[in-house]
Amino acid sequence: MIAMSTDVKSLIQEGADLTDQALEALLPSADALPVSIHSAMRHSVFAGGKRLRPVLSMQAGVTVAGHLPQGIERLGAALEMLHTYSLIHDDLPALDNDDLRRGKPTCHVAFGEAIAILAGDALQTTAFEVLAGLACPPAAAIQIVGLIANAIGTVDGMIGGQVLDLESEGLHPTPELVEAIHRAKTGALIRVSVVAGGVFAGATTSDVARLDRFGRKAGLAFQIVDDVLDMTVDSAHLGKTAGKDAATEKATWPAVYGVEQSLRDAAQLVDEAFAALEPYGSRASGLKAVARYLIDRKS
Ligand code: IPE
Ligand code: IPE
Ligand code: MG
Ligand code: MG
Ligand code: MG
Repeated sequence: MIAMSTDVKSLIQEGADLTDQALEALLPSADALPVSIHSAMRHSVFAGGKRLRPVLSMQAGVTVAGHLPQGIERLGAALEMLHTYSLIHDDLPALDNDDLRRGKPTCHVAFGEAIAILAGDALQTTAFEVLAGLACPPAAAIQIVGLIANAIGTVDGMIGGQVLDLESEGLHPTPELVEAIHRAKTGALIRVSVVAGGVFAGATTSDVARLDRFGRKAGLAFQIVDDVLDMTVDSAHLGKTAGKDAATEKATWPAVYGVEQSLRDAAQLVDEAFAALEPYGSRASGLKAVARYLIDRKS
């Protein structure tokens, strides 16, 4: 059994290290043929992401099982592959057209558009291969595959949210529209990271319902803060181009409510998220600490 720190910075660092080791073992090496795509996949995966979805998943596992379940880092690695795929495609010229990501040139800038598109696709298929082989009861693995596929899909999922985000550029966003975008494009993967971590650890139906409620609130809070950071932090600290949302007239939370109210809303959502974890007592302290970090972060 791996002991985990209670201090949030160490807890995130330890979760990120476990995730990185799993990613290193699971991704084809950079010299495997065809070299271009494997280098591109590794370029984006190892560019320095915070690994928050894997860490949330691990802490959800701790909340349900009372300890870090063995093998959960492979679930974290798969979630991070899916997240990285979404970022590579998000940055493409046809979508947000960004040239800086995680402090490095975006995948299409470094490897060209065709390889970047294929690297995103390949991270997605590799992730599902990893999920199919998870070290948990087969019924749990099948449940996790279904939940994740649904969360990154078109109906209230990541891809659907990306479509809404793109189609809402330049409109005057309503509160309902921004909430729908945020819940889908970012919230869904965060919610399912939490739920899948619980299912891996043997969650009951009521555990799943509680983690889902927690994940929904925390996921929305996360994207609200992403929107605020885009307006308030410079590119060097963000590792991505600051000020893009206003320049492209994106439908963001601060565009509707302003920065101050957005920060209050994010804090309120995290408090509401905590309420769902009450039955777990101190077993949820790591998960709560990570959720608090989602809104206190500066990049
Ligand atoms: C950024 O996510 C993209 C969004 C979904 C808002 P993160 O802030 O988790 O980015 P990395 O993984 O640390 O680069
Ligand atoms: C990205 O949202 C969400 C996904 C990648 C699915 P953003 O477009 O706000 O993310 P950043 O700000 O480029 O990281
Ligand atoms: Mg985007
Ligand atoms: Mg973007
Ligand atoms: Mg953003």
